[in-house]
Amino acid sequence: MENNGDSNEDYDSSLPAEKWCGDEQLYQWKGFWFRLQYLPGTRQVLDNFKPLPSDVILASFPKTGTTWLKALLYSIINRSSRVCLRTTHPHMLVPTLEVQLYGAQQQSFSTFASTSSPARILATHLPHQLLADTVKPSDCRMIYVTRNPKDTLTSFWQFVLKSRSYEEPWPLEVAVEKFCSGVVPFGPYYDHVLGYWKESLERPEKVFFITYEELKDDTRTHVKRLADFLGCPFNGDGEEEVLEEIVIGCSFEKLSNYEVNKSSEHSQWMKLPFSSFFRKGDVGDHRNYLNNEMVERIDTITAEKFHESGFMY
Ligand code: A3P
Repeated sequence: MENNGDSNEDYDSSLPAEKWCGDEQLYQWKGFWFRLQYLPGTRQVLDNFKPLPSDVILASFPKTGTTWLKALLYSIINRSSRVCLRTTHPHMLVPTLEVQLYGAQQQSFSTFASTSSPARILATHLPHQLLADTVKPSDCRMIYVTRNPKDTLTSFWQFVLKSRSYEEPWPLEVAVEKFCSGVVPFGPYYDHVLGYWKESLERPEKVFFITYEELKDDTRTHVKRLADFLGCPFNGDGEEEVLEEIVIGCSFEKLSNYEVNKSSEHSQWMKLPFSSFFRKGDVGDHRNYLNNEMVERIDTITAEKFHESGFMY
């Protein structure tokens, strides 16, 4: 893989920066905010990644259901080996482009089971605005999952609080402020969602847009839709049972209870325990944390941002 010689320092000096959490700064590049360590990988993806027409790319803003979708897509596409999920963390089955494949560790594609399957399954948090020139010419399929902004923010805040890299508590007020002003990794959240939303309207046969809440509400129906979209419907003999097994096998209750997903071990690419990707898996958990003023503020911004798009939370 080509190395452009980009170092963290190159970005450090030239890009607009803003404090995000504790002393950590985020860097603005091409209209989006990045943690410093993911900038070189991001640039490498945009410069070097050439998707195959058969690739399936899961895109998401962080904390919107990526882990769940990784498990579901893996199971839908690799039905006969879905039992892997009992012993392997979804992030070790479906790699994230800018972190695992083009990031600092640069693991090879062949390390991941899902990249040798009939359709390679890859994930990314990169916004469509940046990725468009990479994915469009290849004709690959994309799935975008999003989640209501208040739960996304709450999940993000909790995730960061648990992260070992931050010694100081991160006040919720600050997290809300940063989220609302767009200064959040891969943010602004609203631009991220709208980029994929618009693309899914323009190219529905190639971009599948789904919300965490829809999936929670009726997992079975949406897993079926996903399988149809991916060209591997559940319509053979005994496939209804397989569908049922996948829905249950990937549910929060089942998945979060496998030893591997409860583990305090961490991967080489992320210094966080495997268990940190599973917390509660509820819809509406923000009600336990955000006060009325915060809720009103986010609701107002959400209405303003999504107003003209036809997409609403
Ligand atoms: P909470 O923090 O609200 O519990 P991501 O995978 O994008 O990082 O998102 C993490 C969020 O998805 C967390 O939300 C996590 O608990 C939830 N999650 C993980 N696995 C899930 C599953 N199988 N079903 C539903 N939610 C899941």
